[in-house]
Amino acid sequence: MKSIKEIDITNKRVFIRVDFNVPMDEQQNIMDDTRIRSVLPTLRYALDNKAKLIIASHMGRPKRKKSPKLSLKPIAKRLGRLLEKDVKMANDCIGPDVKSLISAMKAGDIILLENLRFHREEQENNDEFAKKLASLCDIYVNNAFAVSHRVNASVVAITKYAPVSVSGFLLQKEIGYFSKIMADPQHPLVAIIGGAKVSDKLMALDNMLDHVDKFIIGGAMANTFLKSKGYDLGKSKIEEDLVGAAGSIMKKAAKRKVKFYLPIDAVVARRLDSKAQTKVVPTQEIPENWMALDIGPATSLLFSEVLYNAKTVIWNGPMGVFEIDSFSRGTIAMVHSVANCYALSIVGGGDTDVAVHKEMADDRITYISTGGGAFLTMLEGKILPAATALEDSEKKWL
Ligand code: 3PG
Repeated sequence: MKSIKEIDITNKRVFIRVDFNVPMDEQQNIMDDTRIRSVLPTLRYALDNKAKLIIASHMGRPKRKKSPKLSLKPIAKRLGRLLEKDVKMANDCIGPDVKSLISAMKAGDIILLENLRFHREEQENNDEFAKKLASLCDIYVNNAFAVSHRVNASVVAITKYAPVSVSGFLLQKEIGYFSKIMADPQHPLVAIIGGAKVSDKLMALDNMLDHVDKFIIGGAMANTFLKSKGYDLGKSKIEEDLVGAAGSIMKKAAKRKVKFYLPIDAVVARRLDSKAQTKVVPTQEIPENWMALDIGPATSLLFSEVLYNAKTVIWNGPMGVFEIDSFSRGTIAMVHSVANCYALSIVGGGDTDVAVHKEMADDRITYISTGGGAFLTMLEGKILPAATALEDSEKKWL
């Protein structure tokens, strides 16, 4: 992918697609601005080079055309503060008002367009919508790694119509880093995979089998693996239709001499509730009517020991219902095990990055991805559609 650095952007209208889909509370306060901060180097580069910056993003999954709670207005304010510049907020992402705002821009000005998903054509990868977006700019920059697994108009179709399409620093860094590590990892390579569903992670597990030396499995998805070993897991969440698939992953792992570690104990409760009574039991002894909601302390110790000689660690997905305090200890323990091990560590997806930030362990993790689904798509060994679109578009202007 060509980089923004390889073209002249001075005085040009530069449309930068970012992913500002950040967590917000009910009052629209930004809960975590990592995704905003992570694109600042590209924005600062464009400002230093006197471009006119048109910034676009989606937010959430709006059902109606305009839903005020999913407006990007609060982001404009935060971005302005971080860049120490005035960021103008447009009332839409296409249309005459947006066009006239842009035509009045001077070099170094910044406009943030309103939520792209207020137009359903965005997620339909609609050509007409993409043409309208492309008509706003001289140069299109994809710097939105976290949404690059989606076939959406502002990351895929737009590259057919923008005069020039290139990548921003974040997109390059995310894809470059991961690809480099996977091409020639230092062994032992350990993949820690957690989260609620095996169905979400099946392809990633299958692909990673070819690369890893050890798997650590946590979160509710571990239940389905334990079930396939014949354990009785009480009321725990299990994907019955995937018990067979889980078993065959473990068989494949054994054939390839990939070590496969499952929880040996669990924090259980009768219901998923912060006030519910909890206890710790071995996973072979989960009582009837109780459910596993986090890994137990013995598992945390075991997993930490498994990481002891790791040279590379890739972690995706929490070890338990991390949002609820009583079921968050397994994930917190894992943050510290990964942060303290002597391996190169890559963390991404689900709430894994949130857990790392919450524990303030960021500086002890080698790389934290901004992507959830996009990171998982790379774990599946797939190429991101938006990256393919960028590469295809280069053939047009090279
Ligand atoms: C994300 O948060 O993973 C990205 O912004 C993509 O959002 P989506 O899953 O709603 O497409």
